Amino acid sequence: MKPKAHSGGTQKEQVAEMFDSISRQYDLLNRLLSLGVDRWWRKSMAKRVRRHKPQSVLDVATGTGDSAIALKKCGAARIVGVDIAEQMLKHARKKPAAAGIEFVKADGERLPFDNGCFDAVTIAFGIRNFEQRRKGLQEMQRVLKQNGLLVVLELSMPANRIMRRLYKLYFLRVVPALGKLVSRNSYAYRYLPCSVDEFPPQQAFAAEIKNAGFERVKATALSGGLATIYEAKKK
Ligand SMILES: C[S@@+](CC[C@H](N)C(=O)[O-])C[C@H]1O[C@@H](n2cnc3c(N)ncnc32)[C@H](O)[C@@H]1O
Repeated sequence: MKPKAHSGGTQKEQVAEMFDSISRQYDLLNRLLSLGVDRWWRKSMAKRVRRHKPQSVLDVATGTGDSAIALKKCGAARIVGVDIAEQMLKHARKKPAAAGIEFVKADGERLPFDNGCFDAVTIAFGIRNFEQRRKGLQEMQRVLKQNGLLVVLELSMPANRIMRRLYKLYFLRVVPALGKLVSRNSYAYRYLPCSVDEFPPQQAFAAEIKNAGFERVKATALSGGLATIYEAKKK
């Protein structure tokens, strides 16, 4: 299922437009749909970054900034968040907790940064929406310093059969209904479960990360596999 927006345009433009259209309700819906667990997942991502003691961190597909804000605990002197959806960034910039974070409108598949300028790069719930995932991973690798850390947080299909059934029921019935009620955009919240379904399983995505120039790729399932954190080092 492809993202759908009103303008037509490229898939990337449609993704940007879709997120712009739900930007006002995005945070509320995240809390409601994940029952608040999304915050814990981002904290878990930030904990892994903190261990690396980075001075500079880039958060790709930062959206309304919650992933970049979670990274403030890492003690980095510089945190930059990029996204293609201007309205999402507008909400990020307004958040008092985001003070000090640089937000830049930019495409994760063509990052406007020099080679090797970040100690760590993160992406939370974003890579699933990329038009060219490989290009995105290669760009993240390019802007990382040697031995720099990549952390990808993404929704995933639980391996357990019963969990998987419950998950599908929740994502195919509850999520679109609640999404439509709050954001008036049923399409965006029907697109969400499809994009999770179409995303490669853990091992396949770990291989994609490796092929983009990373090593020591490690995948950790969170909350029974509802989300997965991938960590890798630039070769
Ligand atoms: C589900 S939101 C995640 C936002 C945030 N990271 C969080 O934790 O809530 C996905 C974001 O990915 C962005 N996105 C999709 N494709 C992108 C690309 N090629 N470059 C940068 N951002 C992109 C969308 O605009 C959207 O804001």
